[in-house]
Amino acid sequence: MKTKTPASGGSYGTKIADLYIVHNLVAVNGGSRHTYHAMPPVGWMNDPNGFIEAFGKYHLFYQFYPYGPSWDSMHWGHFTTQDFVKWKLEPTALAPDGPYDSDGCFSGSSVIKDGKLFLVYTSVMAERQTQSIAVSEDGVHFEKLGVVISSDQLPKGCAKTDFRDPKVFKRGEWYYLLAGSMSEEGEGMILLYRSADLLKWEFVNIVRRDDRTTRGIYECPDLFVLGDADVMFASPQGYRTEDWRYENVQSSIYMVGKFNAEEGTFEKVYEDEIDGGFDFYAPQTLKAGDGRTIMIAWMQMWQRSFPTAKHGWAGSMTLPRELTMRDGKLYQSPVHEIERYRWNPVRFSNVKIGNRNELTKVYGTKIELLFTLDLGDAERVGIKLFQRGDHDARIYYDRGKNRVIFDRSRMGTDISFDPEEKDASIRSVAVDIKENKLTMRIFLDVSSCEVFLNDGERTMTGNVYSDGDGISFFAEGGSARLISLEKYDIVV
Ligand code: FRU
Repeated sequence: MKTKTPASGGSYGTKIADLYIVHNLVAVNGGSRHTYHAMPPVGWMNDPNGFIEAFGKYHLFYQFYPYGPSWDSMHWGHFTTQDFVKWKLEPTALAPDGPYDSDGCFSGSSVIKDGKLFLVYTSVMAERQTQSIAVSEDGVHFEKLGVVISSDQLPKGCAKTDFRDPKVFKRGEWYYLLAGSMSEEGEGMILLYRSADLLKWEFVNIVRRDDRTTRGIYECPDLFVLGDADVMFASPQGYRTEDWRYENVQSSIYMVGKFNAEEGTFEKVYEDEIDGGFDFYAPQTLKAGDGRTIMIAWMQMWQRSFPTAKHGWAGSMTLPRELTMRDGKLYQSPVHEIERYRWNPVRFSNVKIGNRNELTKVYGTKIELLFTLDLGDAERVGIKLFQRGDHDARIYYDRGKNRVIFDRSRMGTDISFDPEEKDASIRSVAVDIKENKLTMRIFLDVSSCEVFLNDGERTMTGNVYSDGDGISFFAEGGSARLISLEKYDIVV
C-alpha cells in the first residue's frame, strides 16, 4: 500500500505518520544504524522531549520528522523502555496538524497531574512560538488541549519568534515552566512562569540573561535537584568558545547553584560544559522512582552534514546516563542496566604499550571497553578505534597539553560544518590526572563513540563514520602500561 504523504498532497497527522513508518521501515537499510541506542525508525530525530517515568515505564519522546532524513515539520515520536536500553516504538504522539502548531510541534517536557500525562510543547505557527499542552490517560494516545502561553505573555523586549522548549516541574503547590528566549538585542534568556493547574500561567521572572550566546537563544532549559544543589541545564546557540570549552556551534551547559522559585532567580556558583565531544545537544533529565537522575541527549549537532542521511535516517540519542554530584561538579555514568547486556568478556592486565599494540579478541564496534592506563613517560598515550588501513578515531592523553583528545580526522568520512566552527574533527578536555593514571570507559555502537573519563568526571561523545572495527593501543615519545582492561560485546 502506498501512503499519501504530506509531500504527495496529504496532510500531517499522527495516524498518517504511523502508516508511513510501517510502510517505509524497509527503506532504511542497515547503514551505520546503532544497535542499543534510541534512534528514529525512519527519517529524522533531534532533541529528546518529555522524558519521564509514568504508567510503570520510562517514556522518551523526541523531535521527529518521519518523511525524510532532514529537519522539517516537527512531530513528537515516542519510545518507552523498562531499562533504558531496549526501546519500544510507540505510536507517534503529536503531529503538526493544529491551527496553532501547523509549522511544528517543537521541543518540550511532560508532567503527571491527576494520574494523567501532560505534554507541554512549543507550538509554531507563522513565525510565532507559543506553548501548548496535550493530555493522555493511557500514556499512548494524546489529545491536544491548545495554547496555554501565548507570545503576548512574554516580558517586554523579547523576540516573539524565539520563545520555546518549555520544561515543566512542580515545586510545592505550583507548577513551574522554564522556556528559552532572546531579547530584541539578541541576548539569550531563560524565562520562568508558574501555574496552579497547567492551563493558566503567569510570568515570574527572567532567570538568566547574558550576551554570551552570540547567535540566538538558550534552547532546551532543564532544572532539577541533585544532592543538595539545584542544577540548571541549557543549550545556548553560539556560546562563545573559552579555551577548550564550547567549541561546537551550539553547546550544552550546566549551572550549579540555588534556585529561588518564588523570586524566579538562580544564584549560580559553577558553570561548565556537559560533554566535551562533538555530538551532544539538548539534554533532558528524568527523576526515576528509585531516586536516580537520568540524562539523555541528542547525539548529533546542528550546522553540520549528516552522513547517515544516505541510509534514510539521521540523528540518535546518547546512552542514558546517571548523574551524580561530586565536589560541586557533575559526574556521568551510563545507566547500570547496560551491564546486563555484556557478552564475551575479555580481560587483560599489565600490558606494556609501545608504538602499536593490538590485543587478541579486542576489536569490534558494538562494544564496551573499560581500562586504566599508567601513563608512564609517554608524551601521548591512548587508543585507536574503528581502525582499518589508514582509517581510525583516536582517544588519547596528551601530556604537553594535559588534556584528553578525541580525534576523528582520519575516520574516512567528511563532515561539512559551519564556518564559525573551528573544525569538526578534534575536541579536547582537561582531566585531573592522579598518580599518573587515567581510566577510560568507552561505548561504541556501529557509528557512535561515548567516552567516560575517570569515572565520569568528563565525557566526550562523537559519531564516527568509519569502515573499520580494529582496535589498538599506542604510546608515543615514551612508553606506558595498560594496568587492566575489560572488553565486552554489547548484545541487546
Ligand atoms: C534544539 C531545537 C529546539 C527546538 C527544536 C526544533 O535542538 O532547535 O530549540 O524546539 O530543536 O526541532
